[in-house]
Amino acid sequence: MSEKFTVLIEQAEKEHQLPAEAIVTLLREPAAAEPLFAAADRVRQRYIGPQVELRGLIEFSNICKQNCMYCGLRRDNREVERYRLDAKTILEFGQRAAELGYKTLVLQSGEDDFFSSDRLSFVLTELKKLGVALTLSIGEKMREEYAALRAAGADRYLLRIETTDKELYEKLDPGMSWDNRVRCLHDLKELGFEVGTGSLVGLPGQSIESLAQDVLFFKQLDVDMVGIGPFIPNPDTPLAAATGGTFDLACRMMALTRLLLPEANIPATTAMETLQPNGRMLALQRGANVVMPNVTDTDYRKLYMLYPGKICLNDAPADCRSCVSEKIEAIGRTISQDQGFRRRRNPAVS
Ligand code: 5AD
Ligand code: SF4
Ligand code: FES
Repeated sequence: MSEKFTVLIEQAEKEHQLPAEAIVTLLREPAAAEPLFAAADRVRQRYIGPQVELRGLIEFSNICKQNCMYCGLRRDNREVERYRLDAKTILEFGQRAAELGYKTLVLQSGEDDFFSSDRLSFVLTELKKLGVALTLSIGEKMREEYAALRAAGADRYLLRIETTDKELYEKLDPGMSWDNRVRCLHDLKELGFEVGTGSLVGLPGQSIESLAQDVLFFKQLDVDMVGIGPFIPNPDTPLAAATGGTFDLACRMMALTRLLLPEANIPATTAMETLQPNGRMLALQRGANVVMPNVTDTDYRKLYMLYPGKICLNDAPADCRSCVSEKIEAIGRTISQDQGFRRRRNPAVS
């Protein structure tokens, strides 16, 4: 007689659907973890294959007008030395990343109004000449601004919903509106971006039921990318004394996301590696297919501290590139040579 959770995993692996209660069971049941991870790995192999997408991450400004309770870049944190790269420096980092073989660059910053869509459009147009796909991760904007960024060459946009528990979101992200965040995601989709969202796992007051709703939200929005990471309490924030998330629960969320969104691009997140040595490689074997190595100069890395324990603080971009390649090959996977847009489901594969 198979256990209840085995039936649920089989169902999800075949149909890519699960009711909320089943997701809750799979998040909670200790014995479900290993079979869940194995199923997510099979689905990744079937829909995506062995290749891993590498995205080169440029952290171009740590200035942020928002005040999220969990984040080290929040505006009230006076402990951070703030920086903003000029366009020339961003282009240099981009050029170097392209030379290292990256086919996608991710430009990430706090919500920094200095980078108006006009200013960023110039950078995007120049970076585009390198023949790379461009992803932005720069927060909430007006639809018109998103449209201008898209026209300037941005292909993808990452904006985590963080949690689908609206009340919790608005408590932890004071002054921000959950509905506006959802509006942003819809606008981005309509404008033709590939859209990524995702959650923090282990926020104080976050229920397992709400995590299940997060996975259903990703499915309902049919997003192209989903980034899931454990919340790691930052000593320079109001949540310094919180417990934080675990590697195991973040992996379960990620594995369930793979079962329900079989063709999505899912990163093995850096925060996972902070909690667990070799965590990104484990994540790649539990449903993930993307790694986002840092291509920002070493001097700036320690200033872009969302949470403590950030990896690769003293490594140069070329070091991370070779480190990640070796690790990926050591687990029998390959490095994708294309720009890694979402693969639409091949009807011949069921
Ligand atoms: N722990 C883990 N992830 C964090 N982020 C912000 N603060 C933390 C933290 N303390 C994540 C948020 C945001 C992304 C850029 O970084 O999910 O969307
Ligand atoms: Fe700013 Fe993003 Fe950090 Fe919130 S999570 S404070 S918006 S950088
Ligand atoms: Fe940076 Fe391993 S990924 S050193």
